[in-house]
Amino acid sequence: MTQIRSRAVRVDQNGGPEQLKIVEVTVGEPGPGEIRIRHKACGLNFIDVYQREGVYKLPLPLQLGMEGAGIVEAVGEGVTHLKVGDRAAYASQPPGAYCDVRVMPAKTVCKLPDGISFETGAAMMLKGITVQYLLRRTQPQGGLQAGDHVLFHAAAGGVGLIACQWARALGLQLIGTAGSDEKCALARAHGAAHTINYAKEDFVARVKEITGGKGLKVVYDSVGKDTFMKSLDCLRPFGLGVNFGNASGKVEPMDINVLAGKGSLYVTRPTIFTHLATRETTQEMADDLFAMVGSGKVKIQIDQTYPLEQVAQAHRDLEARKTTGCTILTL
Ligand SMILES: NC(=O)c1ccc[n+]([C@@H]2O[C@H](COP(=O)([O-])OP(=O)(O)OC[C@H]3O[C@@H](n4cnc5c(N)ncnc54)[C@H](OP(=O)(O)O)[C@@H]3O)[C@@H](O)[C@H]2O)c1
Repeated sequence: MTQIRSRAVRVDQNGGPEQLKIVEVTVGEPGPGEIRIRHKACGLNFIDVYQREGVYKLPLPLQLGMEGAGIVEAVGEGVTHLKVGDRAAYASQPPGAYCDVRVMPAKTVCKLPDGISFETGAAMMLKGITVQYLLRRTQPQGGLQAGDHVLFHAAAGGVGLIACQWARALGLQLIGTAGSDEKCALARAHGAAHTINYAKEDFVARVKEITGGKGLKVVYDSVGKDTFMKSLDCLRPFGLGVNFGNASGKVEPMDINVLAGKGSLYVTRPTIFTHLATRETTQEMADDLFAMVGSGKVKIQIDQTYPLEQVAQAHRDLEARKTTGCTILTL
């Protein structure tokens, strides 16, 4: 039986970046519905930090990483959409993408179009599909129309820079927040119609000003604890508050009556993994992303590249808000 050695990043105990250990593991043959993929690169995502810290509780020991790109090396029984030698990329559960080679469920692995590099594939699948489901599938009552303003927090980050460009392509006026003037300039260069440096400006007041007092139909908030209640104050009646991340901590439990007081608001807390539930929806969303990237309307900006050995430094930089755009680990 094939036994392949691979480096992997393992967490034995929840905690800081010092808990990231590079270990050697043995990888076997794929079972039914699985493939073995040899990575060229894998993506770094904020969810990896939540899993390492234990904000999202997973059984330990835990191999980290939710996004990667490489070449399919073996295909298990029943897998029909991939074959040995295919270039492929994915955003997927279970974690384990920070490695040379792994066996994993084939369901959310997609063929990577020839025009898209492995590095871009590794950087964009989780973040790009997230933007797809947010802007296309997580809409306020009545939908979004060209010209509408939307608020998108952390607009200079990995998900953020993709959202700026995708929103522009849809004709939306994206108002992006970021933690420095430099990051705001980067978000504008990627298509944000307006930016707010929320480290020094009151974003609720600025949104009111930009929208002529009307407020927004929707806000996309991945910062969480520090911003979400204020985000709700940016909405017009019947508006939608989307909390899709916890970069500053989880949103505190709230009294549901608050939503009545603020204007019969809607709130949702989506995760990409509900959207990736089937092969068909995964491929549909990935195809939309491939088309956006292929057309040049969305460019995947990889601002940080670290060798796998420097994974702890990569986590430190992401958490310290030192990164912009996407970050990948190379193998
Ligand atoms: N629910 C889902 O399906 C889903 C899927 C993908 C990603 N996400 C979420 O989307 C967000 C963006 O993900 P990403 O991987 O692209 O990360 P990222 O945006 O590149 O990095 C996170 C950014 O959040 C901002 N931030 C605000 N307060 C922070 C704090 N206290 N500590 C650290 N950062 C803070 C920082 O930007 P500023 O300095 O500009 O504030 C930082 O650069 C994350 O919250 C992630 O969990 C959710």
